[in-house]
Amino acid sequence: MNLLTYKSLIKLTVLVYCGTLIYLVIIWLVGLYDLQRALGNLGPSPTFSIISLKHCGSNMDTKVIVPVKNSKAFLVSAYLDERFSPRMLRIISIVDQASWTQFYCHFCKGSKAISTRAEVAFHPENFGFPYSTADILCQVPLEAGVVSSVSVTVGLEPYPGSPFLPIRSLKRVSSGAFHRNFTVCISTLFGNYSNVLQFVQSLEMYRILGAQKVLIYKSDCSSILQKVLDYYSSEGLVEVIAWNIHHHLNVSKSWKPSLDPGDVHYYGQITALNDCVYRNMGISRYVVLNDIDEVVVPVLHNNWADMMSYLSMGHLGTESFFFENNVFRHRVVGDDSKFDLWADVPGVNILRHVHREPLRFLAFNARKMIVNPRAVVRISVHNVPWQMGARLRVPGSVARLHHCRNDDDLWVRDSELIRDTSLWKYSAALIKNVNCVISHVLKS
Ligand SMILES: *[C@@H]1O[C@H](CO)[C@@H](O)[C@H](O)[C@H]1NC(C)=O
Ligand SMILES: *[C@@H]1O[C@H](CO)[C@@H](O)[C@H](O)[C@H]1NC(C)=O
Ligand SMILES: *[C@@H]1O[C@H](CO)[C@@H](O)[C@H](O)[C@H]1NC(C)=O
Repeated sequence: MNLLTYKSLIKLTVLVYCGTLIYLVIIWLVGLYDLQRALGNLGPSPTFSIISLKHCGSNMDTKVIVPVKNSKAFLVSAYLDERFSPRMLRIISIVDQASWTQFYCHFCKGSKAISTRAEVAFHPENFGFPYSTADILCQVPLEAGVVSSVSVTVGLEPYPGSPFLPIRSLKRVSSGAFHRNFTVCISTLFGNYSNVLQFVQSLEMYRILGAQKVLIYKSDCSSILQKVLDYYSSEGLVEVIAWNIHHHLNVSKSWKPSLDPGDVHYYGQITALNDCVYRNMGISRYVVLNDIDEVVVPVLHNNWADMMSYLSMGHLGTESFFFENNVFRHRVVGDDSKFDLWADVPGVNILRHVHREPLRFLAFNARKMIVNPRAVVRISVHNVPWQMGARLRVPGSVARLHHCRNDDDLWVRDSELIRDTSLWKYSAALIKNVNCVISHVLKS
């Protein structure tokens, strides 16, 4: 090789190296910018303005759903989400995707309102409805100091009497221990719900398995079920959240517009689920997300604590656990008449239904989740669109989602159902607890 070609080879190599380096730096910067956008953090000093506002923050609105004046947007709850940047405010909202505009967040410092621009980040799943769950994200200006409430408007300035929402912290209540190990989120109760027996059985199963609180997003229920809810609220297991979304929007009773048109998917369920996860972030070790006719039933263990410690020890770094949905048909009655109890209580007796549909072959089989809420950024009905850490599909040999309802897979004949009595190992405790509730609520 002569000297000339050797020199040009070196030149070429240096060129290729530099080119690659520059390319990588550009990719890195673009990625960083995208990430910052996604997190709603657009630079160190968001534009803001300060004006005087008499009685700033005095008009606190503690309703669960707060409309934003002059817009098609509703606020549910505001959280200081310090996982992303120390002063990022995340407001869980329901926003019309076609008509949203620039929103502004306002914080109070004495009689001054400090205002800043908001970003709107829509959640990926809305199943084709006009309104979608969204995060309204605001960087809290340092000038605002410690903030405890926020107002959102369409105009740059808050108007006198702008409603303010309390800001909730996501930090753990006391260092180390969690206030609760398991919290169940039930979204949503609606339409004159009156399946009293199954409702009581589900709640007592949650209690037996380890739930320390059940949050119920309630739109509507029958008067007899209201008595049951009042009992559980005063006794402490249940907290009812007044999910009055139907006062503001035409909610769909289905999961897609072609089955029941409306403004928003299935009673606003996705928004309620996200709110429930954030409400429990600093409080509960795990959050269990299922409907009232569903129970995560351990097969290998006797309670959720043993089951979760087994699952998390075997799968370090896993933050969400997906349980196989198994439909137990209401219509098919079990073979042991010793569970033929509570004939005078309206509703379904889950102990009597022990035949489940087999899983569909090569088809979507919906799952429900138990999650570590601190790892979740966004949640949906059957999946976690944005989370930290790994996911696990829990095998049916460890636990199953016991879903007692009408027939789901119409192709399956009754003779093809699988007999499964995993629930019966809890029957003694369940019967005792249900009797106790019924004697308190229905016999008094
Ligand atoms: C949660 O579970 C742990 C052990 O699994 C236990 O030590 C702790 O007391 C439980 N916390 C609550 C609030 O029940
Ligand atoms: C609600 O359900 C209860 C019990 O099934 C029934 O008696 C009542 O008439 C229903 N109310 C309405 C408004 O449909
Ligand atoms: C629901 O839809 C009806 C008819 O389309 C409309 O008149 C009504 O105002 C809507 N209600 C709400 C709360 O949006």
